[in-house]
Amino acid sequence: MVEFTLPKNSVVTNPVASYKEGKEFYRIEVYRWNSESGKNPHIDTFDIPHDECGSMVLDVLLKIKNDLDSSLTFRRSCREGVCGSCAMNVNGKNILACTKSLADYNGDTLKIYPLPHMGVVKDLVVDMTHFYNQYASIKPWLENSTTPERERIQSEHQRAALNDLYDCVLCACCSTSCPSYWWNSERYLGPAVLLQAYRWIADSRDENSEERLNALDDAFKLYRCHTIMNCVDTCPKGLNPAKAIAEIKKQLVKRA
Ligand code: SF4
Ligand code: SF4
Ligand code: FES
Repeated sequence: MVEFTLPKNSVVTNPVASYKEGKEFYRIEVYRWNSESGKNPHIDTFDIPHDECGSMVLDVLLKIKNDLDSSLTFRRSCREGVCGSCAMNVNGKNILACTKSLADYNGDTLKIYPLPHMGVVKDLVVDMTHFYNQYASIKPWLENSTTPERERIQSEHQRAALNDLYDCVLCACCSTSCPSYWWNSERYLGPAVLLQAYRWIADSRDENSEERLNALDDAFKLYRCHTIMNCVDTCPKGLNPAKAIAEIKKQLVKRA
């Protein structure tokens, strides 16, 4: 069951750190929760001067962690928009913190939360176990019984069919912004995993498209997508999971 409210007595606290006076600063409100504290979630506020951190959302979080509160917990690794680990929700939209410019917020307070509708492990870190299990369920690897002596050749056209699919970094920004996924995440695979599923169906080197389509032909796994398009609006890599889902549906209709 989806829970829409914070636990009883959760509070927004006063600023814990006003970094320095007399400078232009970013005001950052960040969700905090530590299961070990036994306390309810709360919001901490930090003021970070413009000239004391880099230009991306991740930079203010690193500044807070390095200089103000080392207990602030969030995932990050590549700092290049490639690992997908720094996904979070800022001012109501899911983003990758390392590729989102602070300038895009025009001086507004940044309200930073974990990805929506996911179990929180600590602060901005969410539990991705179910998401990764769903990913594993679509067999995200090449299935081909032959062993070529050299690489498996593709035509230019066959290779182009994988564009805008292979570049998905599995950040889960799309799935966690999809209302259908919120309501049915136990059974609906969601846009990220379905885009990945189509990535293998569309691969000319894979022999098991039929089996892959059979596995997706399910009222919940696939057909919970109602073309609401939040996924397209959200994807920080500019991909179109809704189109990939439509392609899967099209292929299922074609072979019917
Ligand atoms: S288009 Fe489908 S997958 Fe994308 S947000 Fe809407 S319901 Fe979810
Ligand atoms: S489709 Fe985009 S938003 Fe969804 S997981 Fe892949 S990169 Fe992230
Ligand atoms: S740190 Fe890797 S995508 Fe942001």
